[in-house]
Amino acid sequence: MTVAVVGCGVIGRSWIRVFTRAGYPVRVFDVSPRAVEQALAWHAEAAARDGRGGTVPQGASTLAEALGGATWVQESGPETLPAKQALYAELDQGAPPEAILASSTSTLDMTEIARGLRGAGRCVVAHPVNPPHVVPAVDLLGGVATEPEVLARATDFLRAVGQTPVVLRRYVPGFLLNRMQAALVREAISLLDAGVADADAIDAVIRDGLGLRWALMGPFGVANTNADGGVREYFTRYGASFRWLMDDLGGTPSFDAATIERIGAGVDAMYPGVSHEDLRAWRDRMVERITTLKADDRP
Ligand SMILES: NC(=O)c1ccc[n+]([C@@H]2O[C@H](COP(=O)([O-])OP(=O)(O)OC[C@H]3O[C@@H](n4cnc5c(N)ncnc54)[C@H](O)[C@@H]3O)[C@@H](O)[C@H]2O)c1
Repeated sequence: MTVAVVGCGVIGRSWIRVFTRAGYPVRVFDVSPRAVEQALAWHAEAAARDGRGGTVPQGASTLAEALGGATWVQESGPETLPAKQALYAELDQGAPPEAILASSTSTLDMTEIARGLRGAGRCVVAHPVNPPHVVPAVDLLGGVATEPEVLARATDFLRAVGQTPVVLRRYVPGFLLNRMQAALVREAISLLDAGVADADAIDAVIRDGLGLRWALMGPFGVANTNADGGVREYFTRYGASFRWLMDDLGGTPSFDAATIERIGAGVDAMYPGVSHEDLRAWRDRMVERITTLKADDRP
């Protein structure tokens, strides 16, 4: 298996580390040679820091060079439908017939990206959480033309490189991850806008409350452990309360300047004197430690 990483900005460079530490040969292409240079330098630092070894990625000066012999192509170019369609036409033309063409797209439908391509059957969305070398979940789905065998191979490959593919049976905007996130962010902003609590209290209820359990189990798994008789008893007993609450939830926020400023001021007050860079590094470090702990102690 050889991997081609096409587009190596924030997401592409992190994917490089996923594939190299799993032992795969990786070739990296970007329309900007400077982006390739920066991604390879970023990768060298990340590999030195995590100490997990792996292969050394190679830069490619043309797309054809990156695609030669590839069995997995991870596309992480710009997020517009015309850009993805143009890039996919090139990938389908240049990649070996057995290669799977996986897109990191956050929002787009593979049915549209791959429409009319001869190799539409081998195209999948593999949408990561940022940054994928730290957070393993990947939304995985095809378009209408994607072959089931390709999805099965993609699932196996993503597992083999240490990610957690979550398979969707069809396209919905936001896939699984951003849809669930949007449901929660909508309510967080609604509560802030309505003056019910300040930003720190709203974040704290996740960070020191729900989020602690959510690092281990999802909403159904948590519900299962919340009643002595398990999830059936829990939702039978509390279903009516949940429905009453769900009917009361806030609507879609406007994201106007005043709301964004209120969120900004709230976040500034949460982390006084800590740089944005340090905060991100701390987040990634802690997520890696939590992931290791989870692997060490399974139920
Ligand atoms: N940033 C995130 O949080 C996030 C999370 C998940 C998925 N994604 C998705 O990942 C993809 C990349 O996002 P990003 O944040 O890394 O963007 P980015 O702007 O950091 O990187 C995009 C890279 O693509 C390169 N590029 C442009 N046209 C190209 C072409 N024709 N061939 C090869 N390379 C080309 C650019 O030079 C740039 O280096 C998008 O589809 C985005 O929706 C982003």
